[in-house]
Amino acid sequence: MQKELTNIMCPTDIWFGRGAAGRIGEACRSLHLERVLIVADKYLVTGGSIRRVTDVLDREGIGYHIFSEFHPNPAVSEAEAACSIMREQGLQGVIGFGGGSSMDTAKAIAMLQTNPPPIDQYAGMHKVPNKGAPTILIATTAGTGSEVSIGSILKDDKTHVKLGVQSKNILADIAIADPELTFSMPPALTAYTGMDALTHGIEGYVSRFGNDVLRLLQREGIRRIARSLRTAVFNGGDEQAREDVMMGSMLTGWAMASSRLGACHAMAYPVEARHEAAHGEVNAALLPAVMRFNAIGDLKRFRELAELLGEPTEGLNDRQAAFRAVEAVERLSEDIGIKRLGQLGVCEEELPELADIAVNYERLMVANPRKVSFDDAMEIYRNAL
Ligand SMILES: NC(=O)c1ccc[n+]([C@@H]2O[C@H](COP(=O)([O-])OP(=O)(O)OC[C@H]3O[C@@H](n4cnc5c(N)ncnc54)[C@H](O)[C@@H]3O)[C@@H](O)[C@H]2O)c1
Ligand SMILES: [Fe+2]
Repeated sequence: MQKELTNIMCPTDIWFGRGAAGRIGEACRSLHLERVLIVADKYLVTGGSIRRVTDVLDREGIGYHIFSEFHPNPAVSEAEAACSIMREQGLQGVIGFGGGSSMDTAKAIAMLQTNPPPIDQYAGMHKVPNKGAPTILIATTAGTGSEVSIGSILKDDKTHVKLGVQSKNILADIAIADPELTFSMPPALTAYTGMDALTHGIEGYVSRFGNDVLRLLQREGIRRIARSLRTAVFNGGDEQAREDVMMGSMLTGWAMASSRLGACHAMAYPVEARHEAAHGEVNAALLPAVMRFNAIGDLKRFRELAELLGEPTEGLNDRQAAFRAVEAVERLSEDIGIKRLGQLGVCEEELPELADIAVNYERLMVANPRKVSFDDAMEIYRNAL
C-alpha cells in the first residue's frame, strides 16, 4: 500500500501587522489592478470601516465598485447574483473586506469569473478547475481564517445547509491581517469569532489529516488564543491581545487547509442553517461536548491540548490530563459569555434531524479522530443543550 504523504498546503502571500490594511494600494499595484470590486457587508460600509480601504484607494488613484448585497452567512444566490458585475464595470480583481461572510462571498465572486455558475457544482474538495480572478482578502474579524483558507462557505438557498467549496484555486493572492481592524469588534463578536479560531486549532490538531508541521502552526495559534482571548473580549483596546488572537486565527486557519476540521463543524452547520445563530457561537457551544467525546480516542494529543490551553498536567495520567483540555475550554467559554445550544434556540425534538445531516458531512467527519454514529451525534447534541 502506498504511504500517505505529509501534506502542508502553503497559502497565500500574507501581510500581517498593525497598519497592514493601509498598504492596500501597494497590494493592488503588485497584482497590476487598476479597478477592483470591493466585497464588504453593508454594516462595514454604512458604519464607515470600509474607508480604511477606500481612502487609500482614492488617494492612490485606484478605481473601485462596492458590492454589499449579501447577508452574514451568505447564500449561494447572493454570490451568483454578483457574477457579471466585474465584466459590466470593467474590474480586474476582487478585494474582500470583512469577516468570513464578506471574504467567502469575495472568493466565490472571484471564482465565478473563470468558472461558470452554478456554484454548487464546485462544492467539495478540489473541484474548481480554474484559478479565479486576482483576489486580496482583508480580515476584520479574528476569526474564520478565511483570508488564508482554501474554503468559501455558502448557504444552499433551498435547504439553508452550508456547502463548502474547497480548492487551491480560490485562495487569495494576498491576505492582509491587520489587528487594528479588529479593535472595533464588540465583546460578543470578539468572543465567538475567537472561539471559531480556537475550534479550527483544536479540531485541526486532533484531525486524522494532521501532521507535525501543521501542528507547529496549530500549537502556536492555540496558545496565543488561549492566553489572550479573555483580554481581547473584556479589554478590546489591548493591542497585544488583539494581535495574539488575530495571529492565532491566521495560523489555525492556514493549517486547516490541509488538516481539515471535524465533528464540531459538521454538527454546527445544520444548527446555523436553522437558527440564524452565528457560526462561531454554535461551534463554541458544541466544542466541549465534541472534545469530551473525542478525548478518549487520542488521550496523548488531548493531553498536549490541555498544556497548550495553559492547564497544569504534571502528575496526572493521560486520561486525567486529556479531560483537563475539555475543562479549560468550558471555563474559557463560561468566562467570555458563550451560550449553550438550548439558549440559542435548539430543542430536543429537532436533534434527530440535525444529527442526520451532521453525520453525512463526509468531508469533515472523515477527519474526526473518532467515528461519529447517529446515536453519538445525538448524545453530543444533548450534552451541549
Ligand atoms: N472560509 C473559511 O475557511 C471559513 C471558516 C470559518 C467560517 N467561515 C464562514 O464565515 C462566516 C462567519 O464569519 P465571521 O464570524 O467572521 O462573521 P461575519 O463576517 O458574518 O460578520 C459578523 C458581523 O460582524 C460585523 N463585523 C465584521 N468585522 C467587524 C469589526 N471589525 N468591527 C465590528 N463589526 C464587525 C459584520 O459587519 C457582521 O455584521 C460564516 O458564514 C462561516 O461559515 C468560513
Ligand atoms: Fe469555523
